[in-house]
Amino acid sequence: LFSAIEMAPRDPILGITEAFNADQNPAKINLGVGVYYDDNGKVPLLACVRKAEAILIEQAAPRTYLPIEGLAAYDKAVQELVFGADSAVIQERRAVTVQAIGGTGALKIGADFLQRFAPGAQVYISDPSWENHRALFESAGFVVNNYTYYDAATHGVNFEGMLASLNNMPAGSIVVLHACCHNPTGADLTVAQWDQIIAVVTSRGLVPFLDMAYQGFANGIAEDGAVVLRFAKAGGPLLVSNSFSKSFSLYGERVGALSVVASSAEEATRLLSQLKRVVRTNYSNPPVHGGKVVATVLSTPELRQLWEEELAGMRVRIREMRDAFVEKLKAKAPGHDFEFVRQQIGMFSYSGLTKEQVASLREQSIYAVDTGRICVAALNSRNIDIVIDAIAKVL
Ligand code: LMR
Repeated sequence: LFSAIEMAPRDPILGITEAFNADQNPAKINLGVGVYYDDNGKVPLLACVRKAEAILIEQAAPRTYLPIEGLAAYDKAVQELVFGADSAVIQERRAVTVQAIGGTGALKIGADFLQRFAPGAQVYISDPSWENHRALFESAGFVVNNYTYYDAATHGVNFEGMLASLNNMPAGSIVVLHACCHNPTGADLTVAQWDQIIAVVTSRGLVPFLDMAYQGFANGIAEDGAVVLRFAKAGGPLLVSNSFSKSFSLYGERVGALSVVASSAEEATRLLSQLKRVVRTNYSNPPVHGGKVVATVLSTPELRQLWEEELAGMRVRIREMRDAFVEKLKAKAPGHDFEFVRQQIGMFSYSGLTKEQVASLREQSIYAVDTGRICVAALNSRNIDIVIDAIAKVL
């Protein structure tokens, strides 16, 4: 049975972490995976998380099964974060939320759910998109297409092209949109552009699936989440996956959620029953710890305040690294214009480095994604000069 099975290709992102881990050079730098590191190069354990964990340890609760849809306090807190506490979809009980195994798990529950009820629909992802989007929707049984998004010449969004793509999609198509901090390009839509996208999605009967893995890393928690509420207000079906991997620095706890907006409370009840079937047949019910940590922080005013401050700190440090990156490259590689890195937003920069240049960087133990995506959140005051020197060398 197994003898003819071929070797699978290495994952385009996590495969880089594997290569990085195997590298014996103590000065190695990983700009591949989307993880925030502090200025000491460490993944932070947020103070709000530590305090919530102290409360949970004190409670010494038994580890029984959670409900299939997850911890009720978590699901409620997520809804309020994603849609805004006083939004109509919550008041009218039209939103349902299930706890998920990270943002990836949320996407997979959503994809499996859609495959059950819209098996013939086409899925559209941005060109380019997070590497796992295509694989994930294909593995759920969909045909996955690209819509126009990035313009390499301007390092921004080809907005007219994007609108044209949306206008050509068959009604009922599923459109995966990055709510903020576009991964991998760091090029986001403006508020006015989003309004146009929402109008086209609604008028053409498309099904928006918002992926929000970086809420709080662009302009703020409420600012970044506002687009979700605007989609919800437009009416029509809506799916939202979100993740606390980055915003709570809880990567390994796998804390995410899928929210689905229905047209009535009664419809929402039916949707939840079906989402529970998808969860039950995938992994039965979610793990306890991460969900409890997030629910505790979000529902305790002092901890929530602390979280907002800590998240703002991460957001500001990334911006500082963008500035430093641009300024230092200006000095080291004067013939090259990297000013666009300052305009990009979130954890990533689509640096424009070619696959060959990325390979040359790897020879110097600096790891980036083959597409040229670098994680700006992995730069710090100690490693940035090394990175800049290496990039100047390969340019
Ligand atoms: C990334 O894009 O690097 C992160 O979302 C981590 C992952 O799972 O790929």
